Amino acid sequence: MTGKLILPGLIDPHVHLRDPGQTHKEDFYTGTTAALAGGFTTILDMPNNKVPITTLKILNEKIKIAKEKIVCDVGFYFGSVGDNLKEFPKIINKVFGLKLYLSKTTGNFLIDKNILEETFIAWKKSSILPSIRLFSDFEKPILVHAEDDMLDAVITLAKKFGNKVHVCHISTALDLKQIIKAKEEDSRITCGVTPHHLFLTENDVKRLGPFGKMKPQLTSKKNQDFLWKNLKYIDVIESDHAPHTIEEKRGEIAPFGVPGLETTLPLLLTAVSEKRLAIEDVVRLCHINPAKIFGIKTNYRTKVVVDLNSSFIIHNSSLFTKCKWSPFEGFKVKGKVQRVFIRGKKVFENNKIPAKPGFGKIITP
Ligand code: DOR
Ligand code: ZN
Repeated sequence: MTGKLILPGLIDPHVHLRDPGQTHKEDFYTGTTAALAGGFTTILDMPNNKVPITTLKILNEKIKIAKEKIVCDVGFYFGSVGDNLKEFPKIINKVFGLKLYLSKTTGNFLIDKNILEETFIAWKKSSILPSIRLFSDFEKPILVHAEDDMLDAVITLAKKFGNKVHVCHISTALDLKQIIKAKEEDSRITCGVTPHHLFLTENDVKRLGPFGKMKPQLTSKKNQDFLWKNLKYIDVIESDHAPHTIEEKRGEIAPFGVPGLETTLPLLLTAVSEKRLAIEDVVRLCHINPAKIFGIKTNYRTKVVVDLNSSFIIHNSSLFTKCKWSPFEGFKVKGKVQRVFIRGKKVFENNKIPAKPGFGKIITP
């Protein structure tokens, strides 16, 4: 395999840009420059901000801040701990889905398990009404962070109420087996995996220390092999870009999360060069499926030019993310993003960002 490759603009449906509230970790400008440097032209931002995105007012404030700063296209999710179901109809046209945290992670933003069922019903109602009016059958997904037993609970509810559910960052054989079974039983379930679960294992934890701490945690080579072997059941690759500062990571209690926007594509292209997956898989996992699942409109003039022959070493100092570190620092990868275009306009070239803050669009489904 040689030469240049043109890919459609990639879509990362799972990032945490931390703006507003924790802009010392990342902000809408630095986060979206990192996206472009990694070949991502559209990203969907999670709601676990310092003040979580749980009302129309807070969502509108976030959108207003983002508008001024973004250099790629950005869409949003709404959040809930089960006490804001009345807000759903007000925000339904502004977001790509509802994110629920059922397992512990950064920010203690856990949903009350007793209200889970009600939340599933309320979201479905709000999501389906506008689509009936538009004569479309598009229902917005509920995204879940649900590990082990909590995944059981989610699958049961998804079957009971027929919700469209996306399970974030699957990391174990057990969880993926449950999802494969649910898919075969015809539930409307999709799932994603992160690059860190595909390219790192628990054997890296000692070397990485706090920089290898995330949720779900790194796991065994056996689990990782199962993910690779069953790639056809995985719908999307999601970076779970979760920047924290080096100081915070070295602190007494390191927060969970690793950045990933700039390393996902080079890692995947390296795997392509090793014949562990095909370019078509990359396009399916990072463009076609995320567009389909979340209802993202694509544009043929939005594209990424990659040099497949260009090898480089991932260095913290060359990263665009504000946190300036990566769990993949020192990895030799093959496949460099050379240029990125959004709607025909050049937004990234030779490690520079010609796009001005505010060039990116806030997208809605
Ligand atoms: O490691 C993680 N960090 N996992 C998550 O699900 C959330 C994220 C964060 O927000 O830092
Ligand atoms: Zn996340």
